Amino acid sequence: MGKKIRIAIACLGNCASALIQGAHYYSKNPQDTVGLTAYNIGGYEPRDVEVVAAFDVADTKVGKDVSEAIFARPNNTITVAQVPQMGVTVQRGPAMDGVGRHLGQIVTPSKDQEVDVKKVLKDTEAEMLVNYLPVGSTNAVRYYATQALEAGIGFLNAIPVFIASEPKWQQAFADKKIPVAGDDVMSQLGATVVHKTLIKLFVDRGVLVDGTYQLNIGGDMDFYNMLDEERLEDKRISKTSAVKAMADYDIPMRIGPSDYVDFIDNEKICYINIEGKYFGKIPIKLDLKLKVIDAYNSAGIMIDAIRGLKVGLDRKLYGAMTSISSYCFKHPPIQMPYTEAKKAFMEFVEGKRDR
Ligand SMILES: NC(=O)c1ccc[n+]([C@@H]2O[C@H](COP(=O)([O-])OP(=O)(O)OC[C@H]3O[C@@H](n4cnc5c(N)ncnc54)[C@H](O)[C@@H]3O)[C@@H](O)[C@H]2O)c1
Repeated sequence: MGKKIRIAIACLGNCASALIQGAHYYSKNPQDTVGLTAYNIGGYEPRDVEVVAAFDVADTKVGKDVSEAIFARPNNTITVAQVPQMGVTVQRGPAMDGVGRHLGQIVTPSKDQEVDVKKVLKDTEAEMLVNYLPVGSTNAVRYYATQALEAGIGFLNAIPVFIASEPKWQQAFADKKIPVAGDDVMSQLGATVVHKTLIKLFVDRGVLVDGTYQLNIGGDMDFYNMLDEERLEDKRISKTSAVKAMADYDIPMRIGPSDYVDFIDNEKICYINIEGKYFGKIPIKLDLKLKVIDAYNSAGIMIDAIRGLKVGLDRKLYGAMTSISSYCFKHPPIQMPYTEAKKAFMEFVEGKRDR
């Protein structure tokens, strides 16, 4: 068994729940590798991921053991594993702009005292902080990134507030000699990786793409929060830039979260449309519907990102981890087609590539 990877998690929503349940499931069933992109990454297996600290603001989660908080309301993803008591209590972080006007109708902030996040990170000897705050939490994300910097630990940014892709933040992490990767996790087989790969295929095969759109609906708090268009600017930039980078000409496109349908829970439904012209200027039209359980789709990649960042920590690398970011995130410092990004990531973890 490899060494442990000590992670702290900001927010115990559906994505954290799927990550923790999945890591537990694969720990208990080491013969079952279905759904993992790789069982062993840089010497680390899913069972090596250990949660040592967790922060949230919801009164349903703060003060509970992580194993209970991941099943607390309003989380509504599916259950794949019963997680035993972990001996890690969810602590109250500062709310700042984390709870927007929609989430605020559902989540009641805990009355517990806010903790000193940097101190908790140090006391628990966390090696990296995984950020899962809600979309639009610009100030709270910057706060957590700063806490990681001051505690001297790595930072993985699963959400579309730009940290790993911002030169100013890259420099701040490089100055502290710690690694950062992000931004905005690109799910294992989700809307973005499918859409960008299809656009690349159309362009490579000589089709002139006249236009494309991607509509997404879901029934969880992530989608409820994203009804607030004011919180969505970076999300639209992140999702659109990933697809845009696959063509060397401007394609009219509209991409983003589209609606909240409460009874579909954590299922996410995505509709992709691509229209263009091939040989003889003959029209071609593709309509695709993709249905996934959103949180597990993100966890399938975060389990790789965490192990990749740990490899970076072991090698004492610092600043923006470019191949981890290109493979695991929608808005990385360097945007790459999917196959190139996967190759870069695997070369990085195998030690054939610097970062
Ligand atoms: N496939 C995916 O699910 C996917 C893909 C890309 C990005 N993301 C992003 O990952 C993030 C997490 O998604 P999720 O579905 O787990 O969200 P969620 O809505 O289920 O959970 C958000 C959690 O944040 C907590 N919170 C709010 N403000 C806080 C603060 N200031 N400090 C600490 N906790 C706070 C809430 O109480 C809640 O527990 C979202 O930003 C989402 O857009 C998810």
